Amino acid sequence: MAAPSRPGARKVSELLLLAILFVVLAVAFRRLARRLELSAAKHPTLAGHARMSKFAARLVPYYAIPEARIFDVDGAPPEVAERRRAGFERLAEHFRTTAPESVAATEAAEASISDLEFTNTYRVPFQFARYVKRHLKLGAFADATDGPRVRDLDGNWAWDLTGSYGVNVFGHEFYKACMEAAQERVRELGPLLGPFHPCIVENVEKLKAISGLDEVSFHMSGTEAVMQAVRLARYHTRRSKVVTFCGAYHGWWDGVQPGVGNPTTSKDVFVLSEGREATLRVIRTRRDIACVLVNPLQALSPNRPAPGDSTLISNGRSAHFDRASYCAWLAELRAACDANGVVLIMDEVFLGFRLARGGAQEYFGVRADMVTYGKTLGGGYPVGVVCGRAELMKRFRDDAPADLCFARGTFNSHPVVMAAMNEFLRRVEAPEFAELWATSDARWIGRREALNARLAEADAPVRLEGLMSVWTVVYEQDCRYNWMFQYYLRAQGLALAWIGTGRFIFSNDYTDEAFSEVADRLVAAAREMAADGWWWASPARTPVRAQLRTEFVRRLLRGEREVAGT
Ligand SMILES: Cc1ncc(COP(=O)(O)O)c(C=O)c1O
Repeated sequence: MAAPSRPGARKVSELLLLAILFVVLAVAFRRLARRLELSAAKHPTLAGHARMSKFAARLVPYYAIPEARIFDVDGAPPEVAERRRAGFERLAEHFRTTAPESVAATEAAEASISDLEFTNTYRVPFQFARYVKRHLKLGAFADATDGPRVRDLDGNWAWDLTGSYGVNVFGHEFYKACMEAAQERVRELGPLLGPFHPCIVENVEKLKAISGLDEVSFHMSGTEAVMQAVRLARYHTRRSKVVTFCGAYHGWWDGVQPGVGNPTTSKDVFVLSEGREATLRVIRTRRDIACVLVNPLQALSPNRPAPGDSTLISNGRSAHFDRASYCAWLAELRAACDANGVVLIMDEVFLGFRLARGGAQEYFGVRADMVTYGKTLGGGYPVGVVCGRAELMKRFRDDAPADLCFARGTFNSHPVVMAAMNEFLRRVEAPEFAELWATSDARWIGRREALNARLAEADAPVRLEGLMSVWTVVYEQDCRYNWMFQYYLRAQGLALAWIGTGRFIFSNDYTDEAFSEVADRLVAAAREMAADGWWWASPARTPVRAQLRTEFVRRLLRGEREVAGT
């Protein structure tokens, strides 16, 4: 027979139970508080919630505006719809007759080049894409550049506003010269990999001076540079989480692109709001954050994804650059990282060497622990670079020789890339480049303001916002057809990237005369678009977003799903 438990012993076990319960509740409460803190630091829009945005993206039904309503889906009267139709047909005829070879080559290649198939489909909002693609055919080929101009296969020259995705900071001729000189310098070595061409030593010295950091590693693209910087930050901090900011692009690696566009979801990325105290609190207090990635291009439109005309469904694009407030934000971010041993990585793949010789670090007055470069630094060839503090760049531990941080890449430090980079780095030391950087801001702000004044004078509901020579078109009219502007611009002889009016990237070889040609064409395009009735405003002023909501809900309720096709 079991001995009856004594009251003292029972009290002890009750106390023990209570203590355990208390600890469990405290841990659960702490977890909940941390979770709430994290939620508060996320951007309140879908873009700030990777899983939810992917779920929402799957729900969006495909549908095309019926052909009979293409020109008046906003309820425009017949007279306006007719003007739109006439303008559209004039543009179609223009592209058909001026660029037949370029268009034919593009059509022939589209089904076999996946990139082309994608970009050609996503030039405008999907509701209009099928019709527009069938009638407004564009060429995607070029065979020459000359200064800031590019030639298509039909011999048409257009002013290049594409900036080659950001590579072209100093003008095509500058990179042609770097590439040619590089080929010459490594001719005898060929593509030998493993042993370095000696110019790498000078590259490293110059990059250390420019970045203010201790070591350098070479990679084949900006995406790979970012991968390496993040891997090293995790290795040295022994923490797993990476903070990126809402809307910021850091390449297409899963680890920094958790939202729409990536079929997998990474639990190791926190996409937080840029410019918010709640974000700083998370960075200061959590013990699992290895690094924070900053893409300084976001200063132009914090927390917003890269603007493209395929998402230009109304006038929802907004941008405004405020240098002083972005400097202040970066200073606070630096302090928050310091307070908690978090590695601050400045991703200068896009903006490096455009804003200043010392890049975004110099321009915004912040010092990062690691910096990634790419694009323009390759002197015309593909490249990615990581610069970092010595203790962060080391790939092994002195006290644990089997605990490595692996990084390779067959074409890292390719001789011709190293030689072109060397040409780039030597050439930008010429005094005229110092002068160029010192005057760039004023020049590009002046050009933009003058152009905006002309657009306002012309009563055009468009405006340019910019960060130095990187601009975006902002639309003032809530209109379903703002995306048409890209076609008017193209017809005026302006070459745009596939994202259309989302980004104009100017090279610094634009003289005042060349720029004034571009400005004239931009204003002419806006006048034409207005004259063709696209910016007609409904007297009822039903917001475009409300129209779209109705269209979506109708489709969802009816369970209709069309399929995209030509
Ligand atoms: C800030 C930033 N980081 C990384 C990348 C990726 O570079 P890449 O396209 O060379 O892989 C880009 C590309 O646009 C970028 O803008």
